[in-house]
Amino acid sequence: MDRELKYRRLDQASPEEIASLRRQARRSEWRQTFHIQPVMGLMNDPNGFSYYNGEYHLFYQWFPLGTFHGLKYWYHTSSKDLVHWHNKGIAIEPGQLFDAYGAYSGSGIVKDNKLYLLYTGNARDEEWNRQSYQCMAVMDRDGSITKLDKPLIDHVPDGYTEHFRDPKVWKDQDKYRFVIGAQRVDQTGSAVIYESSDLLSWEFKGEIQTRLEHFGYMWECPDYFELEGQGVLLFSPQGLLPEDDHFQNIYQSGYISGKPLKRDTLELDHGSFCELDRGFDFYAPQTMLDEKDRRIMVGWMGLPDIGYPTDSHGWAHCLTLPRMLTFREGRLNQQPVPELQVLRDKVAEAADTLHSEVKSYKGVQGTAFEMICEFQAIEADVVGIEFRAGEGERTVIRYESGKRKVTLDRSSSGASIVSDYGTVRSCKLPTERNSIKFHLFVDISSVELFINDGEEVFTSRIFPKCESRNIRFFVQNGSAGLKVAKWDLT
Ligand code: FRU
Repeated sequence: MDRELKYRRLDQASPEEIASLRRQARRSEWRQTFHIQPVMGLMNDPNGFSYYNGEYHLFYQWFPLGTFHGLKYWYHTSSKDLVHWHNKGIAIEPGQLFDAYGAYSGSGIVKDNKLYLLYTGNARDEEWNRQSYQCMAVMDRDGSITKLDKPLIDHVPDGYTEHFRDPKVWKDQDKYRFVIGAQRVDQTGSAVIYESSDLLSWEFKGEIQTRLEHFGYMWECPDYFELEGQGVLLFSPQGLLPEDDHFQNIYQSGYISGKPLKRDTLELDHGSFCELDRGFDFYAPQTMLDEKDRRIMVGWMGLPDIGYPTDSHGWAHCLTLPRMLTFREGRLNQQPVPELQVLRDKVAEAADTLHSEVKSYKGVQGTAFEMICEFQAIEADVVGIEFRAGEGERTVIRYESGKRKVTLDRSSSGASIVSDYGTVRSCKLPTERNSIKFHLFVDISSVELFINDGEEVFTSRIFPKCESRNIRFFVQNGSAGLKVAKWDLT
């Protein structure tokens, strides 16, 4: 793509152009109602997720002037309750030599009553070779944000390529540390640690020692935290090949966990890599520890290098709902934060037993809703739900009880996304039971499905017509009890 177009700055667009771009996005039939989405242009990774000055702050990667990955800004949103978010405008504007081609992803930490934002400055030399700088901006209590005029780290250490980005900072005893995504010169991905006592001068400590020596060619957006006594490294590896139901998306997001990271040797004794999400559209998540000591995660509901139907409407992507992480039987469990219940409006409920049939219930339909649906005493081969269903359209969740397999099928969901990566996603549930609980958050163009209180999650964009609002429940070859509660969300 033409470089001038790709790296066009917001101040190069006239007020009329900006107004028209915003209008175009606003008119899109697929605007979300309760998710964070850009007013125009493309959003990607959540950044700087933190609690500061009585509010949650969540920033994201933003290219305002198109739906491609152009010049990245940090955009700022804030919320008192993790539910209602307010657009605050641009937080970090690229433009210095060290971030001339983008203020890339990073994180935030509170110190001395200020919010320190660490990010990667994406730059290019005269031969157009990539250069990565680690940079800082500081937010005051009045909300003003100032960039430091020099990067904190102005070179990549030996042994790594310039694919060196996305610092995630935390306080570790008396020191600050950040973990950063890196590519070794042999083109394998890894995560690297730096340490500081004042957030300003940083020392390279080395790589996190894992058992994943050759695991993709780059690890983006790493995040390290400790939860319930375990060390967790979350990251988004690129370059994994599909294996059965695993690694079906263009890039993945997941974690390894085990004993806490050894401070001196940086060893992480861990189990196998687990995908965080089994749906089509989830990437680059970031966590924060909130003032109630909860580990909360938000992800990007999208993926790089893939076109979406809203591109022609002048906007692309949204963030996931905030989810609380806990451990259950050695695996991370995700639950939508309970604060989201304030969105619940009118309820419609049903209780029934289904015998090899398909049923709908009065009031159980909609385009933006929360639904908890439990199939119990399953004596059937398959149970499931069709939602956002209408003429020729439906999104389908199926549970094959014998195989313990859940499938999300978006082949008839509406306008299609790229088909190269298939139209169904499946996973096998970890535990044997004769019931299953589906907790869905459906917005105008997305679904987040939490299974059995978050033991697996499927996050996906869907692009149905607004008339496709029916919900049907089905049981095949046998019987099952059904309990449903559905709330309109406003
Ligand atoms: C992940 C990512 C990050 C980078 C940012 C640029 O989606 O590629 O590694 O910092 O997006 O927008």
